[in-house]
Order: sequence, then C-alpha cells, then structure tokens
Amino acid sequence: MTRRRDLKITTIGAGYVGLVTGVCFSDFGYDVTCVDKNARKIEQLNAGEMPIFEDGLEALVKRNLREGRLYFTTDLAAAMPDTDVVFIGVGTPQAEDGSADLQYVMAAARELAPLLDGFTVIAIKSTVPVGTGDKVEALIREIAPEADFAVVSNPEFLREGAAISDFKDPDRVIIGTNNDKARDVMARLYRPFSALGPPIVFTDRRTSELLKYAANAFLATKISFINEIADLCEAVGANVTDLAFGMGLDDRIGSKYLAPGPGYGGSCFPKDTLALLDIAEKAGAQARIVEQVVNVNDTRKRSMASKVIDLCGGSVSGMTVAMLGLAFKPDTDDVRETPAFPIIENLQRAGATVRAFDPAAMAESKPHLTDVTYCSDAYDCAAGADVIVLATEWSHFAALDFHRLGEQMAAKRFADLRNVYRPEDVRRYGFEYVSIGRP
Ligand code: NAD
Ligand code: UGA
Repeated sequence: MTRRRDLKITTIGAGYVGLVTGVCFSDFGYDVTCVDKNARKIEQLNAGEMPIFEDGLEALVKRNLREGRLYFTTDLAAAMPDTDVVFIGVGTPQAEDGSADLQYVMAAARELAPLLDGFTVIAIKSTVPVGTGDKVEALIREIAPEADFAVVSNPEFLREGAAISDFKDPDRVIIGTNNDKARDVMARLYRPFSALGPPIVFTDRRTSELLKYAANAFLATKISFINEIADLCEAVGANVTDLAFGMGLDDRIGSKYLAPGPGYGGSCFPKDTLALLDIAEKAGAQARIVEQVVNVNDTRKRSMASKVIDLCGGSVSGMTVAMLGLAFKPDTDDVRETPAFPIIENLQRAGATVRAFDPAAMAESKPHLTDVTYCSDAYDCAAGADVIVLATEWSHFAALDFHRLGEQMAAKRFADLRNVYRPEDVRRYGFEYVSIGRP
C-alpha cells in the first residue's frame, strides 16, 4: 500500500469509533496514534490483543503495528506534535435526563487545547448534540487564544459487528465545516477511500451534527414501525415476513431495517433517540414521531416476556427457560440495552429459572444478570428446558438440530423472537412454536 504520510492523525478515544477510525486510516497509509486514558486498553492494543469483539480488527491492528504507522499511547502530549487531524471519538453516554453527556468530549478538548501547534483540524466523530462544535471551539479558543485550528463535525455511521467494512466502504462521508482550510484537509484525508469513492457531503457544522441523530432516529423509526405492523399482522392473521419483503421492494421504502424483533438495543439507537428528543425540547421544536418510536420500543422490550409466557400456557412459574442469545445483535459481545435482559428479568419475576448461551456476550452479561446458568452451547442450554427463546440471530442458531434439542428438553416449545425459522420447519419436530408477526 502507498504510504500517505502527508497527513498525521491522532484519535482521542480508542473505543469502537476511535479505534476503528485510527486503524482504518493507518491501513490507508497514514501515520496514526490512538490515545486512550484506559491504560489497560492501550497495553492490550500494543500487545496486539483486541479490547473489543470486532471481526477483522485484530489482523488490521497487527499489520499496521508491524508496518510502523499505528501507535497506541495514553500520552496525548506525546501524540500531538505534527498532528494535522485529531479525531475526538470519546463516549457521549446518556445522562439522567436523556440528554447526551458531553463531559468526555469537553475534557478531551480541554486536554488538547494547550497542545495545538500549527494548523490543526479537530474532527468530532462522537455523536454530539447540535452546537457542540461551537462549544468545543469556544473552550479551545479560551484556553489557547493564539492556536490555529478548526473544529469540524465528521459523524460516524459504522455498525458494531461490521465496523471495518462500514468504515472503509461507507455509504457517505459527512463533513460539517465552513472553514475552507479544514475542508481541504478533510477532503485530502478521505481521498484514498476507493477508486469510485463514497459521496463526500460537505455541509455546515450544525447540519452535520443533527444529520447523525436524524439518521439513527430514522432507522429506529423503521424498526418500531415494522414491529407495530408485526403486531398488527398477528392480530389480523397476516405474515410480516412477506409483508416486509413486499414493502421493501419499493425503492422509495427500501428493504433494510424492516426486520421485526424484540425491539432495538445497543449503545446507539436508544441513547441517540432520547438525545434527539432532548435537542428538540431545548430548541422548542416538536419530535412527536421519534417520541412514539421510543415509547413503542420501550413497551416492546418489556412485553416480549408475555409472548413466551403465552406459549407456555399462561405461566412459566417453576419452568426452565433456555435463552439463546444475550448480545443486542449478532457478531458483537455488546449487551448495552439488549432486549434479552428485560426478557430474562421478566421471566424470572414470573417464576422461571433461566439458562443462557451466547457465543460472545456471556462474560459481558454476568455483571448485569443474577441467577442465570451459563451454558456451553445451544444444546447444553436446552437441557431440561421447558421453552427455548431465540433472542439474538447469531449464525450459530441458524441451523439448529431440532431433533437433538427436543431430546434434551422437558417440553418442546420454541419462541423465535427473530423469525430465524419457518414455522412449519420447527413444528415438524413436534415443537409448539411462536414467532413475530406470523401466523
Ligand atoms: P467507547 O466507550 O467504546 O469508547 C470511548 C473511549 O474513549 C474509551 O475507551 C475511553 O476510555 C476513552 N476516553 C474517554 N475520555 C478520554 C480522554 N479524555 N482521553 C482519551 N481517551 C478517552 O465509545 P464508542 O462506542 O467508540 O462511541 C464513541 C462515540 O461515537 C459516541 O458518541 C457514540 O455515540 C458514537 N458512535 C458509536 C458507534 C458504535 O457503533 N459504537 C457508531 C457511531 C458513532
Ligand atoms: C447503529 C447504526 O446502524 C449505525 O449506522 C450507527 O453508526 C450506530 O448505531 C451508532 O450511531 O452508534 P448499531 O447500534 O451497531 O449501529 O447496530 P444496528 O445493526 O443498527 O442494530 C441496532 C438494533 O436494531 C439492534 O438491536 C438490532 O437487532 C435492531 N434491528 C436492526 C432490528 O430490530 N431490526 C432491523 O431490521 C435492524
């Protein structure tokens, strides 16, 4: 690969976004230093060990470490000299009132301000409320009045589990700035993406900041919409799989994010929809659709246990539930806002004993759950169970041996909350079967 050492990059934060950003840019040939306050994370990365579960990441980290253009450190002051673009990729978690907590972003700005030397672009990759760029700029100006810099909004759209491919081959790159020098630097930075190249959309900073929330809220809206339609399908005897397929063939609608399930989770949609509501409220604007999207999702996550209880004849008291999947979606060990947890808690409250298996997320789940028996695979999990609940559509659960499962279970019941199977294929093995929005 041709080295592009004309631009030097520093990322503040080596989590999903900071790390993937840094590693992918280094793979394009840039010199990149990823800085994180978490010394353990930096130690692991320097040893070529991954602090997050992300397909393809380890190979990229190792290659770029070996080729000498990727560095990890806890020392921002050591990283900053000659940096052209510094990405802020720290967390913006949900505060008590639903707003985005900006303390980490502002702390990062405070730390980097005295270290600026020569024209530097400060690109905010964290998902931040409208006006955060203004605040960061004002803070840096106050600390370092002479510094030559521009604060740019450059939101990230990667998905966990597909982070590398989403980053390297994005649908678009959004860059929010009115500063011509910063615009040129960012255009140069993103030039090597691919021969054809994703559209690079330049806009102002506030539009770029809001665009990120609007995109996440729209995807969440599609999910809550199809989830309600799935309930309607159940009520009127229609089939949501065929319905979503038929709807999605219309280019104006699109087929993605129309898979019904137990509600959206993860570290992004739940917090970002709430943050959008907070932004709207503070601006005196209405966001009634997103308000309902959040309500529909919250209710759904809480009510999913009833589906399992109904399948078990109205009570799970004294029964054993085998939970397949704990992560909020496949290919990640992330359990933040996973629908699996409220399902488990509600089933336990209804008197059930819970066994669980997840290919990656069991260690992450342990601090959040009590009285759950963790199992070695789906078949171990099903041993003695009265019902299986498929909560996350890992590929590990896509071709289960129902004959073998049935032999282990006390009663043959299967709640397929991700519509992985065709009802007739499971019922053929003598299972009582329920799914989402299908007869
Ligand atoms: P994360 O919690 O995985 O990582 C944040 C990292 O920043 C942590 O390792 C933390 O130690 C470090 N950090 C905090 N303050 C620091 C400082 N002052 N100096 C150095 N390091 C510091 O978070 P994430 O999932 O990468 O998310 C980061 C932001 O990106 C959030 O705003 C999130 O909404 C957004 N985002 C996340 C995703 C995703 O898939 N996770 C996708 C798009 C956007
Ligand atoms: C999401 C967005 O997809 C990314 O574009 C964005 O960058 C990221 O949030 C962020 O801002 O941090 P992610 O949270 O990793 O990415 O996960 P998704 O794959 O989008 O799934 C989110 C949730 O929606 C999961 O619980 C998933 O099961 C659910 N989902 C998704 C459905 O229930 N149905 C669908 O059709 C699609």
